[in-house]
Amino acid sequence: MSAPLLHRRCPELAGSLPFLRLGEAPTPVRRLTGLGTRAGVWVKDESGYGDGGWGGNKVRKLEWLLPEARRRGARTILTVGGLGTHWGLAVARYARELGLGVALGLIDQPVDAHVRAQLERLRASGATLHFLRTRTRLVLAAPWLFARHAHGLALPYYLPAGGSSPHGTLGAVEIALELGAQVEAGELPEPAWLMTAVGSGGTAAGLALGLRLAGLRTRVLGVVVNDTLRLDSAALLGLTRRTTDLLRARGADLDGAVPGPDAIRLETAWLGDGYAHPTAAGDRALDRASARAGLELERTYTAKAFAALLDLDAAGRLDGGPVVFLQTHGPR
Ligand SMILES: Cc1ncc(COP(=O)(O)O)c(C=O)c1O
Repeated sequence: MSAPLLHRRCPELAGSLPFLRLGEAPTPVRRLTGLGTRAGVWVKDESGYGDGGWGGNKVRKLEWLLPEARRRGARTILTVGGLGTHWGLAVARYARELGLGVALGLIDQPVDAHVRAQLERLRASGATLHFLRTRTRLVLAAPWLFARHAHGLALPYYLPAGGSSPHGTLGAVEIALELGAQVEAGELPEPAWLMTAVGSGGTAAGLALGLRLAGLRTRVLGVVVNDTLRLDSAALLGLTRRTTDLLRARGADLDGAVPGPDAIRLETAWLGDGYAHPTAAGDRALDRASARAGLELERTYTAKAFAALLDLDAAGRLDGGPVVFLQTHGPR
């Protein structure tokens, strides 16, 4: 399988920052017609990325996180999420293939039919599930979880919610580098905005860094869909900075290509009542995207982000575009 573009951009990382290809790159870009928007809208479609077309943006994170777990000699991955965590399911599925155990600390979230089905998949995934209900109980249980899942001196490799550690963030760096290559090849014009839902921040933070490394002037437009984590500009730029620190620590010469404070614009008005609470605007956007553009969204992340795209476009707040929407939802 092919080397990541990050290793081509920074050859000094090839031996120091391991990567495990789990999907077929590059993911396609296509223009969305039929939406009646002022700005030209394109989609970079991550939905089929992963084993057997199973994926979305989490698989991109795991391409860096799983080999790092092995590099550290971990036997188990410990991570956290809501009861319907897609992230946790992706970890369970891909880590198991590498012979790594998975433990999930779960906290409550609104339960609908989708979350119930997701929970059944988690139960069948082979991961050890710990139902801790609240964030406070999760934090209090952390020392016990580490001890319970240690193998001798090997502690579990802890991954934060959504995999948004510096290593996980590299997944989106790679997506942006791919987009840069696609712009260079003339597959689409240089976008003004690259839009994504912001759930734990790694995707937006990594895109900002990747766009700089790709030499694009494109800015990230992040639509915040989670109010249970701190996801303001300072937090996201902090994650971008920790990711550049990781690259430098592993020997990369970034040549000053570090995102500035305006690399990420955040929109918070499409959250509705909170994380995983569907909104009427999101549901309308979901229907419109499906009927008019053949784009299949879900209600927690991508429908809210797409609602923001449509509303900002109608209000003339996309500076004429073009806009690339990152389709991060994949079949599970
Ligand atoms: C479908 C989908 N889109 C977007 C995101 C947001 O990515 P991030 O958590 O890196 O902010 C997620 C996160 O889990 C997701 O499941």
